[in-house]
Amino acid sequence: MKVEDIKNIAVIGSGTMGHGIAQIAATAGYNVTMVDVNNEILARAIEKIKWSLEKLAEKRRIKPEDVSLILSRIKTTTRLEDAAESADVAIEAIPEKIELKKELFARLDQLASKHAILATNTSSLSITEISRSTSRPDKIVGMHFFNPPQLMSLCEVIKGQFTSDETLSITAELAKKMGKTVIICKKDVRGFIVNRVLGAVFNEVFWTVYRKESTIEEVDASVKYKAGFPMGIFELADYVGLDVLANVAKVMYEAYGERMKPCPLATSLLNEGKLGQKTSQGFYDWSIGRPRIKFTLAGKYDINRVYTVAVNEAAWLIHEDVADPVDIDTGMKLGAGWPSGPCELGDRLGLDVVLGKLRDMYSKYGEEMYRPCPLLEDYVGKGRLGKKTGQGFYIYK
Ligand SMILES: NC(=O)c1ccc[n+]([C@@H]2O[C@H](COP(=O)([O-])OP(=O)(O)OC[C@H]3O[C@@H](n4cnc5c(N)ncnc54)[C@H](O)[C@@H]3O)[C@@H](O)[C@H]2O)c1
Repeated sequence: MKVEDIKNIAVIGSGTMGHGIAQIAATAGYNVTMVDVNNEILARAIEKIKWSLEKLAEKRRIKPEDVSLILSRIKTTTRLEDAAESADVAIEAIPEKIELKKELFARLDQLASKHAILATNTSSLSITEISRSTSRPDKIVGMHFFNPPQLMSLCEVIKGQFTSDETLSITAELAKKMGKTVIICKKDVRGFIVNRVLGAVFNEVFWTVYRKESTIEEVDASVKYKAGFPMGIFELADYVGLDVLANVAKVMYEAYGERMKPCPLATSLLNEGKLGQKTSQGFYDWSIGRPRIKFTLAGKYDINRVYTVAVNEAAWLIHEDVADPVDIDTGMKLGAGWPSGPCELGDRLGLDVVLGKLRDMYSKYGEEMYRPCPLLEDYVGKGRLGKKTGQGFYIYK
């Protein structure tokens, strides 16, 4: 199959992610069949798509007449077979539970035609494990959109252990046709690219606050006003949901061990059901609106600490041949809204400076999360220090 042969897309699950994915697929001209467990949920999903398309028309991002045209391309059904039998590609966005996903993929495999690619939007589960429930593991791939898919321009395309190069490249082309910038995650590792770098950063700031070296507000003011992040890291944690983060932290700990040791900072909030924005309470009190982070606290936390662990995690991704520097940087800029990616930052700061800081932190705390990646040691050993020497993660001419 070539990407041009794709006409029909099945989107399974019409919740937060599914309805957004259906919308962008239909906007790109595909016939979409959206599947969910009952018609009420599907009707709500269609309403949300309509609302979003009307907003885009108001902002002149699409033509007013396109609203009904795009909507006419989306069918809904509760019968998986109605969507799967004609699908060239199926994109799964059902809840993050491995057994549910495996059961669905086994059914999709039986129903869909032989050429169909079956993609999962999972954030944390193994593409390879999901692929084992089918007879076509070469056609199973990760297609990780960001929330909300209608507005976030990034898609991580993930190669499972058995995903063929053909499947990977058709999926990447498809995501581009759906208006996304694609980064390739060459291995099926937990956290993929963006959440792995974010995971390292979350751990650093959680532990720093837990050790009482800085406060939540000091960290958030510093990353927001000094580093130019779109929101504070604790603000982001509340926004994502502390329960969701705790689940990701567990997955990361299982995958990477002590290097991603989760911090108990949010445990009492979790026990009290204070899960962040969705419950009005988390690290911040959201009942009074978005947190007002004081500018005067900026600089009270050293943002080089965040940069240092981010550069180190980027180095691990490259060292393990999971991702290329440009994809890591693109991922952090588009997926997390950082002004610069960690490889660009590292090269600008000087990899020797980053390594020095890591060594200091590692000897001070003795925590694996600060252990320098061998790739950084290697680059610095070879005099590959970043911009100042003409070569670091990138080559400068
Ligand atoms: N929410 C996010 O920010 C986000 C971002 C990226 C990826 N993801 C991933 O996307 C997936 C979906 O997440 P979500 O936030 O959209 O979840 P959600 O709970 O909002 O939506 C899931 C939908 O799937 C439906 N569903 C459940 N079982 C089904 C089945 N067997 N067949 C058809 N529909 C079924 C549910 O009724 C629900 O409407 C998860 O794997 C999640 O990890 C989520």
